[in-house]
Amino acid sequence: MGDLDRCFSIDDLRRRARQRLPRAVFDYIDGAADDEQTLGRNVSSFDRWQLVPEVLRDVSEINTAVDVQGARISMPFLLSPTGMSRLFHHEGERAVGAAAAAADTTYSLSSVSSVSIEDLAAVCSGPKWFQIYVWKDRGLVREFIERCRAAEYQALCLTVDVAVTGNRERDYRNGLTIPMEFRPGLLFDFASCPYWWWHKITTPKVTFANVVGKAPAAGDDLTSLFDYIHAQFDRSVTWDDAEEMIHQWGGKFLIKGILSAADAVRAVEAGATGIVVSNHGGRQLDSVPAPVDVLPEIVDAVAGRAEVILDGGVRRGTDVLKALALGATACMAGRPYLFGLAAGGQPGVARALEILRSEIERDMALLGVQRVRDLGARHLRQVD
Ligand SMILES: Cc1cc2nc3c(=O)[nH]c(=O)nc-3n(C[C@H](O)[C@H](O)[C@H](O)COP(=O)(O)O)c2cc1C
Repeated sequence: MGDLDRCFSIDDLRRRARQRLPRAVFDYIDGAADDEQTLGRNVSSFDRWQLVPEVLRDVSEINTAVDVQGARISMPFLLSPTGMSRLFHHEGERAVGAAAAAADTTYSLSSVSSVSIEDLAAVCSGPKWFQIYVWKDRGLVREFIERCRAAEYQALCLTVDVAVTGNRERDYRNGLTIPMEFRPGLLFDFASCPYWWWHKITTPKVTFANVVGKAPAAGDDLTSLFDYIHAQFDRSVTWDDAEEMIHQWGGKFLIKGILSAADAVRAVEAGATGIVVSNHGGRQLDSVPAPVDVLPEIVDAVAGRAEVILDGGVRRGTDVLKALALGATACMAGRPYLFGLAAGGQPGVARALEILRSEIERDMALLGVQRVRDLGARHLRQVD
């Protein structure tokens, strides 16, 4: 495992990722939209809650397992969809899927992944979801659905907070755009990370693996595929489209990007079996609430009719326990495992999952809780 042994927290993995990646690539993971207020609040809002331990409880056996969308997973923590992961480490989504399966938890592949639906399924034997959009070409969307069915994905997760792409200024400043602006500064940045650069030039090119061959007139280079995908985003998508997709899939279906009780209720009425309370890690609309701030009202409004999953800002086991005590079924996270991936490929992702798992387990013991379902409002105190 090498220097991953010296990473004891998600923040340590973040520092390691920063050392190993070109600045522009690190910023692509780490950055968010506009002034990044939401990104900061996603993390800091957990501090508005304190944990209240119950002492002298038998905690000799701690069980962190939970049931999420019909699958039992070993911990209340799942891996959020993140696109283009081969940019961060040449093994990309394969490494993430294999590490998630080994840790016995769920990974959601992104629509804009750099490993295809089928190739991910070949290495990820555990529960897996596919993150989908309602794209303009509804035939392509139907094709994705059938590919997921054939590759035995357990659930679809419809992302609804990307009517347009968020304003990520770090990427513009760094020139990390498609097509890339090969300024001297960017080339120097890449060259300063020889391990990363070597793998970039000696392994297959990073591409949008799920749509290769879909734009025959334009070609399969990264820029053409990016333009093709960019043109697929449809600003006219409504709840009717979501309902139609839920009907087409006919199985477990989550809606990701919900931040209000009213939308959560609408998602339940549309037939969603899961609500992912999320602001896309602060990468879309800035100045929106942190998921943990709206979680209680959404849990109340959903009233057990669907599972509620918190996504965004989780960096510690204590964050996960707070979300569970507020009524979430489980948490999801993106950057924590991406920092692990950049820090050391599959072992790095495994390290991120192990850090969070051991924190959750230790913190449950310190809180006086044996099983996840025993967590409740009595374990929380709100700080003004
Ligand atoms: C580099 C990166 C790429 C992402 N790509 C996607 C994506 O393709 N689809 C999606 O629904 N969410 C995407 N997200 C958002 C994550 O699924 C998740 O909502 C977010 O990372 C949660 O915040 P956290 O990073 O604080 O855990 C991405 C996030 C990051 C950091």
